[in-house]
Amino acid sequence: MEQALIRTITAALIGLGNVNRNFLRILEMKQAELARRYGLAFRIVAVADSSGVAVAPTGFDPAATRRFKETGGRVCALPGYMADATPADLLATLACDLVLEASPVNLTTGEPGLSVTRTALRRGIAVVLANKGPLALAYRELHTLAAASGAGLAFSATVCGALPVLNIGRRDLIAAEILRLRGIFNATTNFILAEMATGRSYANALAEAQRRGIAESDPTLDVEGWDTANKLVIVANHLLGSDATLTDVAVTGITGVTAAALAQAARDGHTIKLLATAERTTAGYILTVAPTLLPTTSFLGQCSGWEMGVEMESDLYGHMFHKIWEREPLPTAAAMLRDAVNLFTRT
Ligand SMILES: NC(=O)c1ccc[n+]([C@@H]2O[C@H](COP(=O)([O-])OP(=O)(O)OC[C@H]3O[C@@H](n4cnc5c(N)ncnc54)[C@H](OP(=O)(O)O)[C@@H]3O)[C@@H](O)[C@H]2O)c1
Repeated sequence: MEQALIRTITAALIGLGNVNRNFLRILEMKQAELARRYGLAFRIVAVADSSGVAVAPTGFDPAATRRFKETGGRVCALPGYMADATPADLLATLACDLVLEASPVNLTTGEPGLSVTRTALRRGIAVVLANKGPLALAYRELHTLAAASGAGLAFSATVCGALPVLNIGRRDLIAAEILRLRGIFNATTNFILAEMATGRSYANALAEAQRRGIAESDPTLDVEGWDTANKLVIVANHLLGSDATLTDVAVTGITGVTAAALAQAARDGHTIKLLATAERTTAGYILTVAPTLLPTTSFLGQCSGWEMGVEMESDLYGHMFHKIWEREPLPTAAAMLRDAVNLFTRT
């Protein structure tokens, strides 16, 4: 659809790592498309990294900012740098429409993402999250804040990168009850397990996931299962009607999975996957993250390497299978764009 009037969305980027740098790259690539198809333009009026925050009311150039970070630049060296201000301080006063939150997951404090999200939502500023931490720690509170102020809150990038698990579950399973949901939610561990099965070392495969920008800033979150658990908590709250936190999930990571166990599984026609499971019982959903033996011929058994997948069994919509191949952070950044466009093109 052609759009005559262009609405400019002013946005703050919290974190300028793999994900938000790719968001800038998409703005470079898709500026004309966004204007033509959705009547939207994005102006980046503030940025933050671990060195601090900077503001530019007329906008930071996406290409120049991305290159600046890719060549080792730090926000504290940018014009508009606000000495001693935290990202939450920034959001307390900044005039903007949208926050794109892609700072590292912190499961102890949730910071800086949690304060940023709270502050923005209280002020009626829309928030799009790639960072799972704030949702894993405070899903209900953040939704209450968003409802009170009317601010948009979207986070489809938090579960399986660009695979729209949350969107499908919410939008397309109308009136359904999900009886069982199982998924491979973490590409880093899925890649490590697949590579170990071919004889490569755990450390070497993890190093590749880090080099590609897929692993968490703290990769123990991946290999010890907490990244998968964060996603399962978000799924449980968003799709299953639960009021779940991380303490409701039994979590085992992949650090105990040996090459010998993978080889034995293969001889038996099986494979080992780090599986997130939500199983409905009369007492509610049982939430588990654990390395699990699966037949090699099964749907999830065939999700290998850089693939993530989910199967959902419901009372109305049969047995659904969805998967994605995602080897770099571009699709996750695109999922943030999807959320932002959806928030600002609703009636
Ligand atoms: N990578 C993926 O494929 C993927 C997929 C889905 C979701 N996610 C989520 O997206 C988020 C970002 O991932 P990423 O891969 O982009 O991580 P990353 O490459 O490690 O980047 C993190 C960014 O946050 C900045 N940062 C760190 N501490 C900060 C603070 N206190 N205040 C402001 N900025 C701070 C870092 O600053 P410096 O630049 O100074 O280090 C860096 O720019 C994470 O929460 C992750 O779980 C990632």
